[in-house]
Amino acid sequence: MENLPAIERTIEAIVAAKQSLPGALLPILHEIQDGLGYIPSESVPRIAKALNLSRAEVHGVITYYQHFRQIPPGRHVLRVCCAEACQAVGGEALAEHARLRLQGSDLTLEPVYCLGLCACGPALQIDETTLHARVTPQKFDALVDALEVDP
Ligand code: FES
Repeated sequence: MENLPAIERTIEAIVAAKQSLPGALLPILHEIQDGLGYIPSESVPRIAKALNLSRAEVHGVITYYQHFRQIPPGRHVLRVCCAEACQAVGGEALAEHARLRLQGSDLTLEPVYCLGLCACGPALQIDETTLHARVTPQKFDALVDALEVDP
């Protein structure tokens, strides 16, 4: 096991620790993403074999849930709320602004469906730790500027 690259060792350890849990697939996927930031494609056959599932079944679950990433995230992850209450107060325009602003940057933009700030949208989350309310395109740009200046 020591010769395996670090990613494979991480996957191997997570699968081995969780494979006997009832409904082990989601806990395994969550822990891999928490540990690596995404679900590497090479984990699919390993998970499928351990859980006696087909690769298509594992892949289907990964692609079904918006939460799971199949590629490594950027330096920071920005989630714009795309749920109804935020959409009603400019969320759609903010999401489009964010998409254009972050094109080619090392920041990752993801949709999210409600951050619990419905009364003061549009809402934005940065790195699962910081929530921002009433985010205008101007406020978004200032937040991104700060991330670019102070990584
Ligand atoms: S709808 Fe956007 S935070 Fe709830």
